Amino acid sequence: MIADIEALAASALSRIASAENLDQMEVVRVEVLGRKGTLADFGKLMGKLSAEDRVSAGKALNGAKTSLEAAFEIKKAAFENVALTERLKSEWFDPTIPPQGILPGSLHPLTQIQNEIESLFFSMGFTILDGPEVETEFYNFDALNIPADHPARDMQDTFWLEGGYLLRTHTSPVQVRGMQRLGPPLRMIAPGRVFRNEEVDPSHEHTFYQLEGMMVDRNVSIANLLYFMKTLLSGIFKRDVTVRLRPGFFPFVEPGFELDIQCMVCGGVGCPVCKQSGWVELLPCGLVHPNVLRAGGINPDEFGGFAFGLGLTRLVMMRYLIDDIRWLQSGDLRFLKQF
Ligand code: DAH
Repeated sequence: MIADIEALAASALSRIASAENLDQMEVVRVEVLGRKGTLADFGKLMGKLSAEDRVSAGKALNGAKTSLEAAFEIKKAAFENVALTERLKSEWFDPTIPPQGILPGSLHPLTQIQNEIESLFFSMGFTILDGPEVETEFYNFDALNIPADHPARDMQDTFWLEGGYLLRTHTSPVQVRGMQRLGPPLRMIAPGRVFRNEEVDPSHEHTFYQLEGMMVDRNVSIANLLYFMKTLLSGIFKRDVTVRLRPGFFPFVEPGFELDIQCMVCGGVGCPVCKQSGWVELLPCGLVHPNVLRAGGINPDEFGGFAFGLGLTRLVMMRYLIDDIRWLQSGDLRFLKQF
């Protein structure tokens, strides 16, 4: 029996030695060292031996087991080492290499200007509202006194969706939602994204940002409108600005205006930026049309208001002298890093 055990151990050792991978070794291990393996079978035969023989056979069996286990562990460690070396060739991490430096993000210039304007109006008692980008024809047009045959409703200008929905073409619908929600008197602004079916070029985008403003109260006049607009503009440009109103037509205001600021490049003398006129057109505004107040559930005999629409995208372009609107949505880090 001792000779059998030694023969088995010798053949198992040579099989381990010639194994080419861990799987092949495992086969040998289960076959010889396993619970139902050949060494275990010898163990079962021990009981049939004489006491003397059992001692010497037991020694041989334990010796075979110990040397096989050792051979197995050594070879296994060698295979694992090779595998690790292979892995480290392609996949490694050196915790001692110094970091490349933190690259912090920054706020988009549109977000920066929006934040500034929001805190300015917030400090003057205005509520900041949000409205849906997918609007109904009612809020985007009808409630704003825009007639059914108005060219703005055209397929060429508006992205129409199914079921009478559309992508809002301006932030003005939030005026109506704001009146319905807040009731008079109210002060609100609504910054947001708007959409037009435009051919994209350096000064036109299908998606851009506006900021709508509205104040409704008793006895609101053009003087109130002018006061808030001057406060807004000197806040943005960080200096006193001279403004003027020109008549402008928008169905939702009566009277309606274009507000111009005196050119800040030449101080009003005339230069290429203001096309020699001394003035730069900045924002449309006016006194809220009675029909719009009514659509918002407000009695126009008791309350009046002003409204304005600020082109946030345009304002950012003016402030930073950006000559192509497409930069703003490009996501280009070379552009964004400058702010
Ligand atoms: N909603 C207009 C547009 O996108 C801008 C506008 C004009 C807004 C006059 C107003 C306003 O509130 O009074 O072209």
